[in-house]
Amino acid sequence: MRHDDRTALVTGGARGIGLEMCRQLADRGLRVLVAARAREAAEEACRAVGPAALPLALDVTSAKSVGEAVLEARELTGRIDVLVNNAGVSLDRELRPPCLDEDVLRATLDTNLTGAWRMAQAVVPGMVEAGYGRVVNVTSSYGSLALMDSGRHPSYRISKTALNVLTRMLAAELAGTGVLVNAADPGWTRSGMGGPAAPRGPEVGADTPVWLATLPEGDGTTGGLFADRRPLPW
Ligand SMILES: NC(=O)c1ccc[n+]([C@@H]2O[C@H](COP(=O)([O-])OP(=O)(O)OC[C@H]3O[C@@H](n4cnc5c(N)ncnc54)[C@H](OP(=O)(O)O)[C@@H]3O)[C@@H](O)[C@H]2O)c1
Repeated sequence: MRHDDRTALVTGGARGIGLEMCRQLADRGLRVLVAARAREAAEEACRAVGPAALPLALDVTSAKSVGEAVLEARELTGRIDVLVNNAGVSLDRELRPPCLDEDVLRATLDTNLTGAWRMAQAVVPGMVEAGYGRVVNVTSSYGSLALMDSGRHPSYRISKTALNVLTRMLAAELAGTGVLVNAADPGWTRSGMGGPAAPRGPEVGADTPVWLATLPEGDGTTGGLFADRRPLPW
């Protein structure tokens, strides 16, 4: 299905799984706002994605940067139909509970949870006004309470569990507005975060988030958590 009159904004879109999402969204006919903290990185990624891509400088940990980027996005494209909250960090090293590194926890939450929330606050009201929107929060199976079997990567896990909660709350608040909100786990994927040993390439990791970002008009899928296009237990 083509989505020629739609615009998507992908946070952390200049590399890793985010860059591949930008490619796949552009292939489906969307205009894509490729966001990176460094504008030059976003510009370079846009050259790789093609003419449907537009660069944005965006740091999701800064309310000022979020505000300026969303304003610029609206000036460039008129509206944002799809928000992919892909930007993420994994900062834990070997520490596990009960050990706590408060700086790591704060920094992880600031990007992985609050960053996505800041973006939703800036973008979702326009979607509600338009009666159409797709929000995809890129999460991880590490955030699933049902699958929580280890204390490895504690701050990262907690941030993704919290992002899942945000997904459910947003979906509930936006029921009936035409804005669908879902969480997607890309699976262990080769990238800066996933490393070179991961079994899947970015084209596989990007597939489920892109599927949720392009759910067709009339589709009621919202408030879900998916991996490989199938429900994943919360
Ligand atoms: N790879 C995996 O195995 C895996 C598995 C499950 C979930 N995930 C999730 O998939 C998403 C993408 O990860 P990845 O594997 O592609 O990682 P990556 O290669 O390390 O890329 C991380 C991305 O996040 C962006 N980012 C980090 N902090 C940011 C900030 N403050 N503001 C804006 N952007 C920021 C980076 O942008 P810059 O270019 O500006 O640095 C970069 O594009 C993450 O949410 C991650 O948790 C990954």
